[in-house]
Amino acid sequence: MSVQFAEPLVLRSLTIPNRLFMAPMCQYSARDGLPNEWHRRHYTERALGGVGLVVVEATSVSPEGRISPSDLGLWNDEQVRTFRPLVKSVREAGCRIAVQLAHAGRKASTFPPWQGKGRVPASEGGWEPVAPSARAFDEDYALPRELSIREIDRVVGAFVAAARRAVEAGFDAVEIHAAHGYLIHQFLSPLSNRSTDEYGGDSSGRSRFLREVIRSVRGAVPDSMPVLIRVSATDWIPGGWDVEECAGVLNEVKALGLDFVDVSSGGLAPGAKPPVGPGYQVGLAHRIRERTGMPTGAVGLITTAEQADQILLSGSADAVSLGRLLLRDPWWPARHLPADRRRIPPQYLRAF
Ligand SMILES: Cc1cc2nc3c(=O)[nH]c(=O)nc-3n(C[C@H](O)[C@H](O)[C@H](O)COP(=O)(O)O)c2cc1C
Repeated sequence: MSVQFAEPLVLRSLTIPNRLFMAPMCQYSARDGLPNEWHRRHYTERALGGVGLVVVEATSVSPEGRISPSDLGLWNDEQVRTFRPLVKSVREAGCRIAVQLAHAGRKASTFPPWQGKGRVPASEGGWEPVAPSARAFDEDYALPRELSIREIDRVVGAFVAAARRAVEAGFDAVEIHAAHGYLIHQFLSPLSNRSTDEYGGDSSGRSRFLREVIRSVRGAVPDSMPVLIRVSATDWIPGGWDVEECAGVLNEVKALGLDFVDVSSGGLAPGAKPPVGPGYQVGLAHRIRERTGMPTGAVGLITTAEQADQILLSGSADAVSLGRLLLRDPWWPARHLPADRRRIPPQYLRAF
């Protein structure tokens, strides 16, 4: 077997030592948006295990943008200070680290999955979510308040400030979270965006918010730093956002300074029917790569080395993201990278 995923990937000035990425995965374990000992251990362990890039979980650009009260955030300077040791620890393991900048929109103020379902009431620390249109995700979720144009400007400003803070905290890259039915995706999809102003309507209107976020985030980070994006390439709902519209929008925005697109899917509304199975989103990454010429990442039930290698060999993607596999098995990359490409800490060499 060849081991394509052992090859480095260069994005702007950043060399990622291999093409196995740790997918962003919410830990719902923060207080006031601050990373703690859990986060530092969790991310460092996966970095030691050999991934090339750790993508830190959805990290909110503002308090109202959190999925749950226990999400991470980058809306203040204390958060920057608290992220620094985590970032340093991951980098010292020879790994590179990005942070996923997020706003949950109408899917904000919900319980961590193991604490409950749907909206957190104000009495338990919840808040009123905001969205492009006053349409709830489903009956368990709060009815969001429609954002005014001034408020949309403020959210773009929050992405800018969070991107600057990511640079101050020492991150190697930022990822814009435009997937899984969170705020940016809510603007993109005709199913959640019923606005009739300049942020709604046709594809160009619905992607205006995304364009503003990309342009502003790009302007907030150094030229040398890559800006990644995670998209849901389809809603998996007839009449919704789909891979062709997604590729069309990416073609229009890529010149604003996007360096990599991580291709996921779904999350916009209940009733979606994703064909979940091994590598079920790889075809979407392939299509986006073909149509946009952008470097892409594939994610979703990629669990064997043969599969990961084949995805890269077949030209479907330039990197693969591993999610739940790494929760079960942080050392999977070290066991599957060739001996001359893995980074075993000297203390552990006798185990390999
Ligand atoms: C516990 C958990 C938390 C997640 N949190 C995020 C997140 O913060 N941002 C995101 O884009 N995707 C998130 N996801 C989706 C994963 O990044 C990934 O796309 C998904 O799990 C499919 O990949 P896998 O089959 O390798 O796990 C999460 C998934 C899990 C299991």
